[in-house]
Amino acid sequence: MSGTGGRLRVGVVGLNYWGPNLARNFDELADLAYVCDLDEGLLAKAAARHSGATATTRYDDLLEDPTLDAIVVATSVPTHYKLARLALEAGKHVFVEKPPATRAVEMDELVAIAAARDLTLMPGHLLLYHPGVVKVKELVDAGELGDVLCVYGNRQNLGIIRSNENALWSLGVHDLSVILYLLGEEPSEVVAHGRDFLTPGVEDVVFCYLRFPSGKIAHMHLSWLDPHKMRKMTVVGTEKMVVFDDMELDRKVTIYEKAPWRRTESYGEWQTRSGDIHIPKIAPDEPLKNECRHFLSLVAGEGDRGKVATDGAMVVRTLEQLQLSLDAAGAARS
Ligand SMILES: NC(=O)c1ccc[n+]([C@@H]2O[C@H](COP(=O)([O-])OP(=O)(O)OC[C@H]3O[C@@H](n4cnc5c(N)ncnc54)[C@H](O)[C@@H]3O)[C@@H](O)[C@H]2O)c1
Repeated sequence: MSGTGGRLRVGVVGLNYWGPNLARNFDELADLAYVCDLDEGLLAKAAARHSGATATTRYDDLLEDPTLDAIVVATSVPTHYKLARLALEAGKHVFVEKPPATRAVEMDELVAIAAARDLTLMPGHLLLYHPGVVKVKELVDAGELGDVLCVYGNRQNLGIIRSNENALWSLGVHDLSVILYLLGEEPSEVVAHGRDFLTPGVEDVVFCYLRFPSGKIAHMHLSWLDPHKMRKMTVVGTEKMVVFDDMELDRKVTIYEKAPWRRTESYGEWQTRSGDIHIPKIAPDEPLKNECRHFLSLVAGEGDRGKVATDGAMVVRTLEQLQLSLDAAGAARS
């Protein structure tokens, strides 16, 4: 099944804030066959931008079209699982915005259906396609930092204050996907503390601690009640340390030749070593374009479909454990 020029046929559902970005990219990289939203006004705007696509309020139109290869779900979070499931059951490859499901058991069902039908199930973990994060991953995997000891993420700002999703699920999903990607392990213990200062039941400030089987540890500070706008991830190794800072324009990644060095004979204290600071050039590629390209390559049969889906399941499982800890006022979960 392919459209004009042998390109894959893709439909995008959900066209409010984020969906139009996906529609723009898929219109460029593939054959955007459908745009779909329940809201007629949003649909009309999308139809005007993408004249080659069929505009519809009926999701079933996408499911029922045997020539459609893939569906991109960019609707509100509570609808993801159901829409992704219907798409997989209709034999479509699925790109679903984060988080694909809000319960681990639902995500496992999606992974199982995708595996049974050999379909792509790709969660929209945008940061994994950021050239800065890819650089940090290369450094970690090449052993440039020595042994990684700990990782911590800061995702704070004043606003956007949400009332239907807490800071853990809304902000934490980004950092968590990066931490799990960098370390390549599932945490054996998680703890989350937070408070719902503004909207009852919706935590706006959350602190998370994760411990991994290898002994590595990680932390996330997630908040929309903060004076600092921070989008930062710090990785501490035994040889070097690296900071990914998405607020920086031309130094997204900074590598510090700083490390513990040796224990002094006389006092038993550690001396430290401090050398050069490197700022590698990071390609200014749009992460979303890289992400959409990756999805299309998986649909085309390149790469490891199964791993993308199971990595996504690890993120949902960990979020669920963190939420249970949050609900239990910071009780450890393993
Ligand atoms: N990766 C990122 O950086 C990033 C950034 C922002 C948002 N997102 C994700 O993108 C998704 C969409 O975000 P948003 O802020 O645009 O959401 P939104 O809630 O503002 O809009 C969702 C749209 O989906 C439509 N919709 C809902 N159910 C539908 C159905 N059954 N059929 C057709 N249309 C339906 C609604 O009418 C609405 O227009 C969310 O999952 C969000 O987490 C990701």
